[in-house]
Amino acid sequence: MFSILDLVFVAFVAVVYGGAYVFLYSTQSKREPRLPPTVIPYLDPPIGIAKEKVNYLVNLRMKYKLPIFTLRMPFQRLYVVNAAELIRIIQAKTNLGTFVPNLLDFGLLFSGVNKETQEFLRSAAATQGNSFTVSVHKFLAQGPTLQVATRTAVDRLAASVRNSFGLPRINQVGLLEIIRHDLMRALTGAIYGPENPYDDPEVEASWQAFVPGITHLLYSVPRLTARKALRARSRIHIAFTKYFETGGHHQAFAMIPEIFEWNRRSGISLPEAAKLEMATSLAMLSSGAITAFWLLFHICSNPEVLEQCRAELAELVSTKTESTADAQVKVVDLSLLKKKCPTMIAMLNETLRYHSTLINIKKVDHNTTLAGQYLLKKDAIIMIPGTAVHHDPEIWGPSATTFDHRRLATSEGQKKLQSTLSFRPFGAGSTMCPGRHFSTNVMLSLVAIVLLQFDIKPAEGRWVMPTKWKADLWNAMPKPDADIPVRINPRESVQAVHWKFVWGDNAGQDADAKQED
Ligand SMILES: *[C@@H]1O[C@H](CO)[C@@H](O)[C@H](O)[C@H]1NC(C)=O
Ligand SMILES: *[C@@H]1O[C@H](CO)[C@@H](O)[C@H](O)[C@H]1NC(C)=O
Repeated sequence: MFSILDLVFVAFVAVVYGGAYVFLYSTQSKREPRLPPTVIPYLDPPIGIAKEKVNYLVNLRMKYKLPIFTLRMPFQRLYVVNAAELIRIIQAKTNLGTFVPNLLDFGLLFSGVNKETQEFLRSAAATQGNSFTVSVHKFLAQGPTLQVATRTAVDRLAASVRNSFGLPRINQVGLLEIIRHDLMRALTGAIYGPENPYDDPEVEASWQAFVPGITHLLYSVPRLTARKALRARSRIHIAFTKYFETGGHHQAFAMIPEIFEWNRRSGISLPEAAKLEMATSLAMLSSGAITAFWLLFHICSNPEVLEQCRAELAELVSTKTESTADAQVKVVDLSLLKKKCPTMIAMLNETLRYHSTLINIKKVDHNTTLAGQYLLKKDAIIMIPGTAVHHDPEIWGPSATTFDHRRLATSEGQKKLQSTLSFRPFGAGSTMCPGRHFSTNVMLSLVAIVLLQFDIKPAEGRWVMPTKWKADLWNAMPKPDADIPVRINPRESVQAVHWKFVWGDNAGQDADAKQED
């Protein structure tokens, strides 16, 4: 038997549910992009995103095959755009304000700066642009400063790979873990100079402890759910405060003192300015190691590709200087990579196409009609998931959702890489990631240094691609759910060689060829 209380409760739930349902549909205009069938009004999207991460959006696209659809969250409308034609129109429209949470709001939110600093930086950004992005553009987008930063990073990489990959070991190691460590040392060392706070293993460990908390900073009450991450963040804050107090930045890459001085002149206190390095760190460290991991995985797991990459890398060995007693010195100029190693670059491009999960975000400035038929309401957020484009069979053919190492060997494949309507791992137009050349240079160098010196074999005997269900929605590259245990051995054929890895002057123009925003 039901008690009265049960009945009242059931009635209450029915009324709330029905009310939400009616409200949802009555506030959804027929001219807006279609709303996929709803089970729990307003809560489907947050639950779906929590459960499936970026796959939530990809699965909806697969299931309903809509060029654009609406998601309703509490207090927020999202329009998710899938069709290339609509993306083209949106990129051409200037009245859709660009909303870049990853560079400003996102940075402010998770770096832990106080309200005052946040307000100041927001208003400064509104009048003079985001000083961080402006500086990264100035120093890392192209030209001699990009070469300087890359050169320092390559020097550090060569040394750290020798130690980490070359360490004689009996046991297996995790491939991602070892890459992550080397790349972190190289990138942060090149940017922060000899006093790099991350050279301290405790600060490096604190960064590792902080990263899993980022999702909580975005979606929940961090004080309750991310204590460990917040404590780790405080340790990093302290390390950077000390770094600036003792003048470590005077020996850093020019970008760091410039941003720091700008912040100080604007009245931001030293400890607050130090906190902002969290944003620089995240920009530098979030996706490079993961990309290098997937690239190495795809190369090493295909013997034919591996051999081809190594044959092309042999072309970079420009000088075989005098033989010392019993060893030969080989100088490898990594700045020739982009010119002489098309297989490796194509593998990187296919890796980015296949894996990248970057979501471009824009905010609708005022009510507008897209392509003459879709009403987009003011203040809604437009999401363009890169995966929807990269896995679109209409663009990439029936095999769009599989990794194909030959895909980009054709001129047709190469052509698709030239347009951000078919290939957009770094975003598009003015919000394209300004650090991508630096990060790509260093990542490719790491893979080259490793492939030339070492053989990597999966400990389990067979390469198996890990799943990525648990990857974070905020990250442009999804991390594998589990690392791959590998065994690393020096390549026998080159054991007697002394390698010297350099970044010469052959990088040519990395300048951006086109702007499509
Ligand atoms: C890789 O992609 C870039 C576009 O980001 C393109 O310019 C380049 O030609 C591609 N290279 C190869 C070998 O696929
Ligand atoms: C936008 O359109 C909606 C629905 O058509 C309307 O209720 C709202 O007032 C409009 N807002 C503006 C700012 O025009």
